[in-house]
Amino acid sequence: MDSNEIRERFLAYFEERGHQRLPSSSLVPNDPTLLLTNAGMNQFKPYFLGEQSPPSARAITVQKCFRTTDIDEVGKTSRHLTFFEMLGNFSFGDYYKSAAAAWAWELVTEGYGLDPDRLWVTVFETDQEARDIWQDEVGVRPERVIDRGRKDNFWSMGVAGPCGPCSEIFVDLGEAFGASSDQGPAGNEDRYLEIWNLVFMQNQCNAAIEPVEELPRKNIDTGAGVERLAMVLQGAASIYETDTLGGMVARAAELVEKSYGSDPRVDRGLRIMADHGRSLSFLIADGVLPSNEGRGYVLRRIMRRAVRQARLLGRESPTLVHLVDQTVDLMGKAYPELLERRDFLVEVATWEEERFSATLRQGLTLLDQEIGATRSGGGKALPGSVAFKLHDTFGFPIDITMEIASEAGLDVDAAEFESLMSEQRERARAARTTDIDSSVTDVAEPILAEHGGTEFLGYEHLATSARVIAILKGGLAAVVAGEGDTAEIVLDRTVFYAEGGGQVGDRGLIQSASGSAEVIDTHRILPGLTGHRVTVNAGEIRVGDEVEGAVDPDWREGSQKAHTATHIVHWILRDRLGEHAKQAGSLVEPGRLRFDFNHFEALNDDQVADISSELQHRVFSDDGVRAYETSYEYARSIGAMAIFGEKYGDFVRVVEVGEYSKELCGGTHVPHTSRIGVSVITAEGSVGANLRRVEALVGRDGLGHLERRAAALEKIAGALKSTPDEAYERLEKLLETHRDMERRIGEIERKDAEREAVTLLENAVDVGGARLVVARRDLDVDGLRSLAQALRSKLDSGVVVLGRAGEGKANLVVAVTKDLVERGISAKDVLAPGSSLLGGGGGGKPDLAISGGPNADRIDEALEASARLARSALTG
Ligand code: SER
Repeated sequence: MDSNEIRERFLAYFEERGHQRLPSSSLVPNDPTLLLTNAGMNQFKPYFLGEQSPPSARAITVQKCFRTTDIDEVGKTSRHLTFFEMLGNFSFGDYYKSAAAAWAWELVTEGYGLDPDRLWVTVFETDQEARDIWQDEVGVRPERVIDRGRKDNFWSMGVAGPCGPCSEIFVDLGEAFGASSDQGPAGNEDRYLEIWNLVFMQNQCNAAIEPVEELPRKNIDTGAGVERLAMVLQGAASIYETDTLGGMVARAAELVEKSYGSDPRVDRGLRIMADHGRSLSFLIADGVLPSNEGRGYVLRRIMRRAVRQARLLGRESPTLVHLVDQTVDLMGKAYPELLERRDFLVEVATWEEERFSATLRQGLTLLDQEIGATRSGGGKALPGSVAFKLHDTFGFPIDITMEIASEAGLDVDAAEFESLMSEQRERARAARTTDIDSSVTDVAEPILAEHGGTEFLGYEHLATSARVIAILKGGLAAVVAGEGDTAEIVLDRTVFYAEGGGQVGDRGLIQSASGSAEVIDTHRILPGLTGHRVTVNAGEIRVGDEVEGAVDPDWREGSQKAHTATHIVHWILRDRLGEHAKQAGSLVEPGRLRFDFNHFEALNDDQVADISSELQHRVFSDDGVRAYETSYEYARSIGAMAIFGEKYGDFVRVVEVGEYSKELCGGTHVPHTSRIGVSVITAEGSVGANLRRVEALVGRDGLGHLERRAAALEKIAGALKSTPDEAYERLEKLLETHRDMERRIGEIERKDAEREAVTLLENAVDVGGARLVVARRDLDVDGLRSLAQALRSKLDSGVVVLGRAGEGKANLVVAVTKDLVERGISAKDVLAPGSSLLGGGGGGKPDLAISGGPNADRIDEALEASARLARSALTG
């Protein structure tokens, strides 16, 4: 029974029993507490917690899962995987233990045809109800129902969330897998393989994984691994010999030209390549890109581990791309995202492998040396600083270093490594933190507590009256800011936008009856409290004053144009490059924007031009821009983009552009895209690993940019005596003429050298049966070299020594014919005495050597010194 059949039987069985088939969720979970999707129930957490209602009370899925905890086990055992497929049936407050147990048993025995005599069931030790159901309702023999404790039979996500006692079904794999036990799986986990976990989801756990509360309803969450079912149903000796993974192993074996099943070390490598090849394909297809943090780092680790195994098994050429291809071939039908993104997967795999290959050898050399040094010093552990350097400079994931060290019988000082890593993170964090000053917090918190913060009216208005609730000078509370002072004014309400979401703070004017202050920046002192940085240019402003605050409308409009353009750029990038091209940072200023996004390679000129033109196209189509507040849940359900790592409250603001772009955003925008006027991408570049940046100019600045470009082109056209439209062709022609002339000059020079050579040859002298040419010609170095070569080619057997001198610099060239080189006469040796008289250095090969030095006045002496050496070499 192949894997497709295994999936289909499961789904069909439960569909007949009223379950709705739902798609697998992405491996990138919609849950900030989880790094990667690790179970079928992840996407249903809000249903179990009662936060959202499910589309149907019964559901089934085939879920893509990734378990980082098992990375190190992969390869060593025959049943561990990082990526796997989990079949699951779910009840959201509908059926409970009885039905779940009965159906699981029926499907396993009748649907999949497993002999009940081979099956064992475990229950949580205090769950008498479950034991009764298995024995009395399902009819399992009492000695086949085993009690187990919390570690084995109480399931949680590993983080706070829904949890509950569980029951597992095990299959006896038979004698080949070890001794039998009357405790079944509790006695021997190798021989008895878990194939299905039924979780009775009834509790909520805290972060310490303690059940603290009952869930609003009792639920069922089950999970059965496709790969393990395949192993049992296909009678395979391991999951690596089943249809899908077997195909991966076979491809890996082909690539390294080794066979599976004869050498345990080879098998281990092949299993790692097979599993990792498959999981990296799925991760990339779900938008993860290799990086040094979070899930990107998990991906990088497995990619690099797979590459290293291939190298260890003797394969030097690109490997990952073939593993990706094999994954797509084997699994693309069941997971169309693989087929759709095949090219992308191949590109990312190739790119990462190239990067790693480049440093692998250097890193391994360093590691070898360090291992040698540690061992000869009698040490047992490799210093953490070495692991850190390998990580930092050579991109060695720590587990690769540990793996290699352990092959040499060494540990790694993981504590030191961790502390160096956290120091580095601390440095990075410190570098990021701007000017949040704790002393300001001390002053600002009481203001917030007393006045309840600043109300923002700036989405609708550009001016408002307000009251000054505080003034800060040099970080301290003040009562007045006088003429010439710089200070921070806090108002009870404001129209000034405080810097945030990439958009810079507003500028403008705050005026009272007694003074006027220019606002040069606006920022958030604390969440909810806005600070206006001002310079008082007349009179004074006091706490308690009634003021009029007005934003500079040009400044604001400039920011709005750039901000709306930023959303459009974000949308275009994802549309053109793929969903991974997410925002990683942005800067929105009047007239310009900078947008950082995840992508693994440079955009080419055509791509940039396409993005720029699409951007302008969206401006021309005059799409409406709409902003509204809604619940976070609703915003996510309509697919609004949130920025990873940003915290959002229950209520969020959504900004929509046309029908296409939806983002969570607190910024200010133009009401219609046509208000942007002109928008043009002006630059594209790299800002870090897998991080690209585009820059754009909008509005008047965009137009200015285009005008400057046009003027520059006019100037070029003028100089070329052409028109802008024809300038490029004209330039091409000119360049061609230029190349042609260079070629002709070269020819003339060569002919001159030839002629010159003929003259010089006439003056050549015989020395020891060979010819010696010594001459001074004040050509340039290239000319001198050509002349020496021309002379040598005309000599059957001989040595040429030429010199030139110019302003403060002289050169010598020595050329030797092949027969003499074979006799042991080297141009470098002949050159040496002359070269040292010139006070310089030089080098070359035995048949041609050149040197240069500052002693131009000694050129003749130098020529003579080298000639002397040549003569004695020829006669000696
Ligand atoms: N959530 C349980 C597991 O992952 C059952 O699906 O094992």
